Amino acid sequence: MTTARLTIDPHFVTGRIQRRLFGGFVEHLGRHIYDGVYEPGHPTADAEGFRQDVIDLVRELGVSTIRYPGGNFVSGFRWEDSVGPREQRPHRLDLAWHSTETNEVGLHEFASWLEKVGSDLMMAVNLGTRGTLEALDLLEYSNIRGGTALSELRRRNGRDEPFGVEMWCLGNEMDGPWQLGHRSADDYGKIASQTAKGMRQIDPGVKLVVCGSSSAHMPTFGEWERVVLSHTYDDVDYISCHAYYEEKDGDIDSFLASAVDMDHFIETVIATADHVGAVRGSTKKIDISFDEWNVWYIDRYHGVDKIEGIDNWPVAPRLLEDVYSVVDAVVFGSLMISLLKHADRVTSASLAQLVNVIAPIMTEPGGPAWRQTTFYPFSITSRLAQGEALELKLDAPTYTTQAYGEVPLVDAVATHDAEAGRSAVFLVNRSRTEPITVTVDVVGLGDVSVLEAHTLSDEDVHAKNTLERPERVTVHVNDSVRIDGGELTITLPPVSWSAIALAR
Ligand code: AHR
Repeated sequence: MTTARLTIDPHFVTGRIQRRLFGGFVEHLGRHIYDGVYEPGHPTADAEGFRQDVIDLVRELGVSTIRYPGGNFVSGFRWEDSVGPREQRPHRLDLAWHSTETNEVGLHEFASWLEKVGSDLMMAVNLGTRGTLEALDLLEYSNIRGGTALSELRRRNGRDEPFGVEMWCLGNEMDGPWQLGHRSADDYGKIASQTAKGMRQIDPGVKLVVCGSSSAHMPTFGEWERVVLSHTYDDVDYISCHAYYEEKDGDIDSFLASAVDMDHFIETVIATADHVGAVRGSTKKIDISFDEWNVWYIDRYHGVDKIEGIDNWPVAPRLLEDVYSVVDAVVFGSLMISLLKHADRVTSASLAQLVNVIAPIMTEPGGPAWRQTTFYPFSITSRLAQGEALELKLDAPTYTTQAYGEVPLVDAVATHDAEAGRSAVFLVNRSRTEPITVTVDVVGLGDVSVLEAHTLSDEDVHAKNTLERPERVTVHVNDSVRIDGGELTITLPPVSWSAIALAR
């Protein structure tokens, strides 16, 4: 029998868990907005055309802040197109996704949807094809109460109160050659600094995210962060990280260890940010906004989905509609463990994305909405991970991966909310063949009992939820869990993600 041991001690705190860690991302891309969150003719559509079935699922998912409106889309976006009378809003080419953007849903409509789902807005400004002035205009429109041209325009457009947007992304993936207006780190650092300074002059309360690398595997990774932060260190609060993982060439073992890469990515960016701070003699710390993370089969987009042709600019085409398997969800759960393990410095994160587009929620026009496999680790972690993330002592056997060498078969994190008397443990078993019995020393938590224990696993690790079988994969109660004399044991099936909630 394969075994592992964990010790949880509430004194060993990594950091307080910010609700913003459970953020999402909605881009004007494919069927995310149109036919996703917004479908006026749908049987569940409300008076504004938003699907109530999707609103209910987004609420159940437990998403805090939602990044909007892109993504690559934002680098060609003119925000003024998306406000004012709908019938006067222009249809525009969206060069990022070779589609037509109708602007039927814009800033006001999206803000209204956010109120329905109970999430906050995190806005991205276009620093690709536009500049500082347009970013300042958007901030004035959004956050100034009244008495100026743009704040009064907002009021005339039906919104008396400011939107009060706190989180702002200074562009998107500006290191990527695919990005409209892609710049060198030096050029981007200068415009980001100038824009940030102006934004703070308008609203000192904003929190600003400067673009880090779009992946840790970019040729400029590390140097990009150093140069960009050298320009912006005093002006911003966060640097972004983006990472997508996929099963490549059938190498499930490496795929299951993706969080090793995420851990390393986070730690490298922290080290680089701290280096820039040290050189400047600054006591300020820059946090990480991991504002795009997920499993994404990106080659499928380049090989199958990509739209081309001068006469071919569809509205809301089916793009990036990955269907997630059990193994995808286990990796996804382990990425959430990685975020929690770094809760001291990763204080904001956005699952990319939310509906239809590499999403935990899928919809069919005129038809149902359903949960993908990845829905479960997100909703359960968001609900149970409260208070502080704890550092664990983990003793687990290892296995060999092609991509990352020797990797522990078990990964885990624990959270603790002293006030509420609640704790939670999240675990993955990366073994493709062996169940693993984990013994957890919970003496430090006092006299606790198990409130819930869930596991996501399946004999077919490639099983998925589809329109035909929307509940093929769900989480099940893990009834192997026992607690006795300060020792908890649980058996984790092969390729599984689990969560245990404890109460004192
Ligand atoms: O999430 C899909 C795309 O991935 C985003 O538009 C972009 O920022 C990233 O490359």
